[in-house]
Amino acid sequence: MSVIGFDIGNENCVIAVVKQRGVDVLLNDESKRETPAVVCFRGEAAVPWGQQDPEVQNELKLLPFETSEGKDGGILIHLKYLGEARTFTPVQILAMLFSNLKDITEKNLEIPVTDCVIGVPSYFTDLQRRAYLDAATIAGLKPLRLMHDCAATALSYGIYKTDFSKTGPTYVAFVDIGHCDTQVSIVSFEAGHMRLLSHAFDSSLGGRDFDDVLFVYFAKQFKELYNIDVYSNLRASIRLRTACEKLKKVLSANAEAPLNIECLMDEKDVKGFIKREEFERLASGLLERISVPSRKAMADAGLSVRKIHSVELVGSGSRIPAISKLLSSLYGKEPSRKLNSSECVARGCALQCAMLSPVFRVREYEVQDAFPFSIGFSLDGAQISTGSNSILFPKGQPFPSTKVLTFQRSNLLHVEAFYANPNELPAGVSTKISSFTIGPFQASSNEKARIKVKVQLNLHGIVTVESAMLVEDHIDDSARRG
Ligand SMILES: Nc1ncnc2c1ncn2[C@@H]1O[C@H](COP(=O)(O)OP(=O)(O)OP(=O)(O)O)[C@@H](O)[C@H]1O
Ligand SMILES: [Mg+2]
Repeated sequence: MSVIGFDIGNENCVIAVVKQRGVDVLLNDESKRETPAVVCFRGEAAVPWGQQDPEVQNELKLLPFETSEGKDGGILIHLKYLGEARTFTPVQILAMLFSNLKDITEKNLEIPVTDCVIGVPSYFTDLQRRAYLDAATIAGLKPLRLMHDCAATALSYGIYKTDFSKTGPTYVAFVDIGHCDTQVSIVSFEAGHMRLLSHAFDSSLGGRDFDDVLFVYFAKQFKELYNIDVYSNLRASIRLRTACEKLKKVLSANAEAPLNIECLMDEKDVKGFIKREEFERLASGLLERISVPSRKAMADAGLSVRKIHSVELVGSGSRIPAISKLLSSLYGKEPSRKLNSSECVARGCALQCAMLSPVFRVREYEVQDAFPFSIGFSLDGAQISTGSNSILFPKGQPFPSTKVLTFQRSNLLHVEAFYANPNELPAGVSTKISSFTIGPFQASSNEKARIKVKVQLNLHGIVTVESAMLVEDHIDDSARRG
């Protein structure tokens, strides 16, 4: 039996495993610690995983394959596979990626692997979380938990740390800037215990947006200098985008960088050059957005920057020097890079897996996560009030959490769960969660019948109905008889 953590990034995946001595990151077939989040179909198409509800259309434009709308309103991916035209759903493609990660793990450990914990962005909706679980199940995995990326990072930071203050909680900000997104969490640490106070994010601000700034700049320049329009040629635009990503990385370590691509288009070789200052100027709009999730996370945690003990910067997208500079002025201290920024999510997931696994013993440590969206329920289209408002699980709710809804009736119930505040969600995401049909129950008298429904925001951040029970008031009856 093994305990595994997977970080499924938009660009890279990392596999970690807890062993008796500590946590190891596994190597793939090419002896690399990071595996591209790509599924190849005999070299004909590469399929990055990018099914996020908001701005789906923008997302699809970036993908090097054809898509259409499926019967259920979902996305269908069209590919040529073994010479035949085939369609796949994103869940099937993700399942292939999980299968590959499972194979790598089994080859390394030489035992079958099922139990795992998988990292997910905190802004994932119910639907996206269910899609991950479905894909993992198709691949033969059993996820014990979908864990928020920053919660996993915080766990890998906190579990072995022994120098926390004895006089009160230590507050740490975790800032993760990846390929497609930025996530920030404020976490409170005490001996043997960590509590997520807030999650904030920008689901469409990551390293690739900085690549795009360079792409647009050089596309324009090459149009003027060489009279080529890379937008009209998919292959040329992919090559330019790849070159721009490399250029961006060079600019993280150097004050200036050249760009050379042979035979980019129309048999023309192209040359370019950019200074870091110019890049920062072009990216100023993106840089302005970098501090927004941090401000939100602190406001939601009810903390001022003075209370933040340290800022831990992770995710490779954060290697741009201007980003560290910005964050250090925002937090009033230099962000730390002590955590292994590309591996901490997978390591945290592996640790959580060990803690949840019945066969593995790790030190007693409590992880209390918070859910980033408010959740309400409605009955037959009318919102259900609980006390003063209609929100059953408020934003910041520790989870897993179970609540009981009581209905004064025994016939069929149509209960719907929804995200109660659209402003908390990524742009364009539907507020719908799930519909549940409950009953009907056989009550001896309809007036006295009540149905108690237990609803849960489960360990994965998914809303479920745990149970529904008919309660009849017999005490009244016996009182009357007496
Ligand atoms: N030295 C560097 N300077 C600037 N950017 C870098 C550097 N190294 C990597 N990156 C960028 O980091 C991004 C990938 O980061 P990371 O591996 O953390 O993302 P991910 O976990 O795959 O994606 P996500 O977390 O968004 O799902 C890419 O955009 C890449 O270009
Ligand atoms: Mg990541």
